[in-house]
Parts: sequence; structure tokens; C-alpha cells
Amino acid sequence: MKSENTNVNQDSISHNAELEIIRVENLHKNFGENEILKGVNLSVKQGEVISIVGSSGSGKSTLLRCINLLEYPTKGKIMFEGTDVLGDKSNQNTYRAKVGMVFQHFNLFSNMNVLQNCITAQVMVLKRTKEEASENAIKYLHKVGMAEYVNARPAQLSGGQKQRVAIARALAMNPDALLFDEPTSALDPELIREVLKTIESVAKDGMTMLIVTHEMTFARRISNKIAFMSEGVIEEIDTPDVVFDNPKSIKLKNFLRV
Ligand SMILES: Nc1ncnc2c1ncn2[C@@H]1O[C@H](COP(=O)(O)OP(=O)(O)OP(=O)(O)O)[C@@H](O)[C@H]1O
Ligand SMILES: [Mg+2]
Repeated sequence: MKSENTNVNQDSISHNAELEIIRVENLHKNFGENEILKGVNLSVKQGEVISIVGSSGSGKSTLLRCINLLEYPTKGKIMFEGTDVLGDKSNQNTYRAKVGMVFQHFNLFSNMNVLQNCITAQVMVLKRTKEEASENAIKYLHKVGMAEYVNARPAQLSGGQKQRVAIARALAMNPDALLFDEPTSALDPELIREVLKTIESVAKDGMTMLIVTHEMTFARRISNKIAFMSEGVIEEIDTPDVVFDNPKSIKLKNFLRV
């Protein structure tokens, strides 16, 4: 892939290289006998966008789910802004509210309209008033171009619109980091663009993000780093130019050839 020099993050956004938002150390996850994560190490600095690529079954989703504590790691350490989140269980709810997640299948509440979807967690978890939550939700619904749909139910929306609402809902929690697990994989090709554009604009605002994606051109354009996962470890992590133009490991070379 040729460098287009249009990467929004590699040079132009000056992220705070000192402040580490997420640090994963020697993370392991077993499901029964199967060891799925085999010692993952990863550091995500404030404002960084890191895309995670790798073949099916390499453990990408498991890694994100462990980082968000949707799965509990078997071994290892997760540091969030300097605090050990596995060691100090009393802070886990606060932590989870600060790390948003956007899923492949949107996971909107089908019995609620768009606005309700975007305010519920703000009220329940962050204890905001309905008015505050609503104002904040509308701000982010504007950002993703969905403000005119506040009264719509998820079933009335296209997949791309649902995903943009899911992104607004995550942003409305004012998280310190956002995790995306294949946010466009369930979408028809003509809807992928609008969601990628939305994610790119969130990246340009300086949000710290970890994105599992198969959209290589997109990953290259918006990421500071690309992490290549293989068989439960991060096999290689570097700038997009190095990963795509100068891969070191045989496994990554093979992956890129496919
Ligand atoms: N809850 C679970 N129980 C048992 N095995 C699981 C569970 N979740 C994931 N696995 C297994 O862990 C392995 C890695 O799965 P994971 O979903 O993390 O891969 P992935 O890299 O996200 O793949 P894909 O690109 O297909 O989404 C797979 O073999 C999967 O079957
Ligand atoms: Mg996955």
C-alpha cells in the first residue's frame, strides 16, 4: 500500500506522549483449556489511535473485551491512567464508564428511542439529571449527524445510522478512551463510508482509540500505530508506514499478502 501522506494522526495531532491512558502487561485469557491471549503487552497514550489487525481467531475481540472487563483476564495487568484496574476492584465501575465500547452489532436498546439510548447510562451510571444527559446526548447526536432522529426507534434506522447512534451514545459518556470492535463489519458496503467518516472525525477531535478493523486503508489513514495480532500476542506494532510497507515478521508479511 502506498503512503498517501494523508494520515490524520501520525503527524498532525500532537498527542500527549507522556500520559498513558491504557497499559496492558503480559495479559493472558483462557477459555477452559484454550489459552486465547498469551501475554499481550500494549501501551495507549492520550490522543493515540491504535488499530488492531489480524486474522480471525487471533484474539482481537478477546483483547478488547478484557480491556473493557467484559471478560476477566486470567493473568496480567491492566493499568488505566496509572491505576491497576484488576487489583483495585472498587474502581471497576468508574473505569468501565471511562472506557467506551462500540460493537459490530451496535447493541442499541431496541425498546428505546435514539435519545433514550443515549441518556440512560449517563443517568444511571454518571448520575446526571435527565436534562443534562439529554443536552449532552443531543450535542453528540449532532456530531454524528443523527440529531433529527431523536425520536426514532433502532428498527427504523439503517445499520449505518444505528452505528452512528451507538458512537454518539459512547461519546455522551465523555469517556477517556473508546474501543471499537469491527464497527463496520455488519454493514452493507454503501453504509461503511458514513461510519468510517464519523470515526475519523472522532479521531480528529483527539479521542484516544483502539480500533479492531479489517479496513486497512482506513486504519492506515487514521492511526498512529497499527498492532498486528497473531495467535494471542501482538506480533508487531509500529507506525502504519512501517507495518504496511516494511513488515518485519513473516506472519505479518503473509497476512498482508492475503
Ligand atoms: N466466550 C468464549 N468462550 C470460549 N471461547 C471463546 C470465547 N470467546 C472467544 N473464544 C475463542 O477465542 C478465540 C479468539 O476469539 P476472538 O473473538 O477474540 O478472535 P478475533 O481475533 O476477534 O476473530 P474475528 O476476526 O473472527 O472477530 C476463538 O478461537 C474463539 O472461539
Ligand atoms: Mg472479533
